[in-house]
Amino acid sequence: MPLKAESPAALLDFAEQTARKAGEKLVAISSRRRKIEQKGIFDLVTDGDRASERIVARAIAETYPHHGLLAEEGSSRPAAIGDAAGETIWVVDPLDGTTNYAHRFPYYCVSIACLRDGEPVAGVVFDPVRDEMFSAHAGVAATMNGRAISVSKIATLEGSLLATGFPYDRRTTRHNNFDHHEAFTMASGGVRRAGAAALDICYVACGRLDGFWELSLKPWDVAAAAFIATRAGGRATDFGGRRFDASGKTTVVSNGRIHGAMIRLIAKTARIGEDRAR
Ligand code: IPD
Ligand code: CA
Ligand code: CA
Repeated sequence: MPLKAESPAALLDFAEQTARKAGEKLVAISSRRRKIEQKGIFDLVTDGDRASERIVARAIAETYPHHGLLAEEGSSRPAAIGDAAGETIWVVDPLDGTTNYAHRFPYYCVSIACLRDGEPVAGVVFDPVRDEMFSAHAGVAATMNGRAISVSKIATLEGSLLATGFPYDRRTTRHNNFDHHEAFTMASGGVRRAGAAALDICYVACGRLDGFWELSLKPWDVAAAAFIATRAGGRATDFGGRRFDASGKTTVVSNGRIHGAMIRLIAKTARIGEDRAR
C-alpha cells in the first residue's frame, strides 16, 4: 500500500528538531582537540562533520525509512519506490563552515532540506553558536526562531552589503571568483567572506545582507538556504539569471531589488575575464 504523504509542517518540525540535536553536538565537541582530516588541500573534514551527519542520517532512517538522503560525508542512499507523495529526498550538510569550525571561528551551521520530486518542501539552517533557527516550508513565510523574517529593501549595489566564498580548487581553476570579488568590492558597500554559504544566504533572507553569489557550491550548501531566502521574499537564480537549481554550478541570492544589477555585473566581469585569458 502506498505510504501517506507527510505534511510540509511535519517535515519541517522534524528537520528543526534534528538540526538542533546535530548543532548541539557540534558545540559540545567543539572545545575538544579537533580530529581533522584533509579531503583536498583546503577541503577539511572533522570529527564534528561526521558526528553531526551520524545524528541526522540516523534520525531520517528511523523516522522516514522510505525517504532518500543526499549528505556530504557519505551517508547518502536512494529513496524507496512507492511513496504516494513522490520521491522524497533529504539534502544535508551536517556542518557548513568546516574550516571555521576547525579553527574555532564561530560561524557555522547545520543545513537540512527536504525535496519532493526535486522541489523543496521544507528547509532548515541552524546556527548553534547564536541559537538561530532559520526555517521555511512550502506555503508559509520564512522564520528565524519562530518570527517572520524578510529580505532588505536596499535597491542599489552601492548601498549593499554582500557575501561570497571561494572554491576549494581555487589554486587550479580559472573560475576561482577573484574577478567577481574584485568587481563587487568596487561596486558595493562591502563584501564579506565569512565561510559558511548556507548561513550567508540566510543572512540575505533576514536582511542582514543584501546579496550573495558563489561558484561551484554543492546541493547541500544551498538547497535549504536558497529556499528559505525565496520564502522570505528574496530571489535565487544562477549567474545567468535563470531559474535556480541547487545542483547547478553558480548561485546568486538577493533581496530581489539588486538582483538585476548583480547579474549584469557578473556578466560584465566574466567577459573581462575571458578577454584577459585570451
Ligand atoms: C563550504 C562553505 C564555504 C564555501 C565553500 C563550501 P563546507 O562548505 O559553505 O563558505 O565558500 O564553497 O564548500 O565545506 O564548510 O561544508
Ligand atoms: Ca558546505
Ligand atoms: Ca560541510
